[in-house]
Amino acid sequence: MDDPKRCVTAPRFGDADDRMSAELRMRPGHRRAHHRTMANDDNVVIDDDIERVDWNRAKVDLAADNFDNGRSAAALRRSFEQSQHVAFAWGDGRLVGMARLLSDGVCNAYLLDVWTQSTIRRRGIATAMVRHLMGSVPGQHIGLQTDDAEHFYAGLGFHLQPQFMGLVVGGWLNNAANR
Ligand SMILES: CC(C)(COP(=O)(O)OP(=O)(O)OC[C@H]1O[C@@H](n2cnc3c(N)ncnc32)[C@H](O)[C@@H]1OP(=O)(O)O)[C@@H](O)C(=O)NCCC(=O)NCCS
Repeated sequence: MDDPKRCVTAPRFGDADDRMSAELRMRPGHRRAHHRTMANDDNVVIDDDIERVDWNRAKVDLAADNFDNGRSAAALRRSFEQSQHVAFAWGDGRLVGMARLLSDGVCNAYLLDVWTQSTIRRRGIATAMVRHLMGSVPGQHIGLQTDDAEHFYAGLGFHLQPQFMGLVVGGWLNNAANR
């Protein structure tokens, strides 16, 4: 799978100071130590603990679901490490979902890499992950691009905004970060 366009895809904070400290804690290198939200499924837990992820295994699982967009395991990890907000879903100790959000911490965010393992979809796991991320960016606009999950995002309150545009600078993943 080498289509760069695909979407690679809650707590509330009280006042501006709370928001700012929450944003700072979630910056790369300043990520909150741990945060958990139960997904609808009682056996699945959502957190942002990047150290827990086995990225080689994650890449294999993504490929098995035809959702590997060409990043090496190290580059996949880097994508999440360098995102301001991340969400991982754990079922029986195994990674069964992931999502990440880029944000300027002020007004704009972008949702990427939203994935739930195909064997346990339609149980509310992606909904819980995306809500977890939405709770990290109060007051901000979240953009995303999707090929075929419009209905899922519409259920979360997203609506179509006309004319998404994009380009790849040079060749897709032809950069030092993916070597
Ligand atoms: C899109 C995707 C992330 C959704 O993951 P998911 O964990 O199945 O999502 P949810 O369970 O939260 O919601 C999916 C659907 O199940 C429904 N659902 C949620 N809980 C449910 C439950 N307990 N029982 C039955 N259905 C349920 C939701 O209403 C939603 O319905 P809809 O798609 O008709 O709107 C998943 O299908 C996926 O990984 N796809 C491949 C990767 C991909 O395309 N990602 C998006 C890129 S933009």
